[in-house]
Amino acid sequence: MSNAPLALFDSGVGGLSILREIRRQLPHEDALFFADQAHVPYGPRPLEEVRRYAVGITRFLLAQGAKLIVVACNTASAAALHHLRATFPDIPFVGMEPAVKPAARSTISGAVGVLATPATFQGALFASVVERFANGVQVVEQTLPGLVERIETGDLQGPETRAILERALEPLLAQDVDTLVLACTHYPFIIPLIQELAGPEVRVVDPSPAIARQAGRLLEQAEAAAGRQGPGRVTFYSSGDAAALARMARRLIGEQGQAVDVRWQEEQVVPLDC
Ligand code: DGL
Repeated sequence: MSNAPLALFDSGVGGLSILREIRRQLPHEDALFFADQAHVPYGPRPLEEVRRYAVGITRFLLAQGAKLIVVACNTASAAALHHLRATFPDIPFVGMEPAVKPAARSTISGAVGVLATPATFQGALFASVVERFANGVQVVEQTLPGLVERIETGDLQGPETRAILERALEPLLAQDVDTLVLACTHYPFIIPLIQELAGPEVRVVDPSPAIARQAGRLLEQAEAAAGRQGPGRVTFYSSGDAAALARMARRLIGEQGQAVDVRWQEEQVVPLDC
């Protein structure tokens, strides 16, 4: 048993969709949530740059005592998961992998759409998932330029968010896609709008419950689950504005916690007052 915190990180508020599930499934765990809002969005950046950020954030979270790290970002998982596991072999990592497997199993039309950032599609992880699990099903890639930025501002259904989605969904629906894989952790917050625009027959696959289950399994295996009975606490770190992040957390997932500002100093994350 261990009452050390588990940790999650993302470029921004997207990882809160994973935190929500972790809080539901593992309510006794303390959680550190890190949003690299000085660098959001990660999606258009080179993989190598995102990898450097992921390493700096991981070092910071380990220094705060994290016992497990959830890379709550598809882009950072594509860029860095393999590297993180090799660099920090003593810490369990849970990463995001586009949920092509369940989508390919359940499609009836034989075409599934994957919604993700450009960097996620470039990574070897995506190619390997398609190769292993598509199983003859057509996998249609779609990016949504500007959408992460809209969600960061809390715009979940305004005209600009709607326009980006309409543009992105049109070619997918024209190709008879009946299943949409959300392969960016920002997107679960706009599922109602996606469902409205895509229509009720289209199935939307949100991987967050499976990610939280995997975190729970790894903690059990490592005999590192929290021993306390009461609810765990959440701490919000941001390289942008931690108070604003905490406000968004309250609004998006009903979660409260201490807000701590951090900043980048060369390749390192340090507390703001350092
Ligand atoms: N939420 C992230 C993801 O899952 C990052 C999006 C971004 O920063 O572009 O890919």
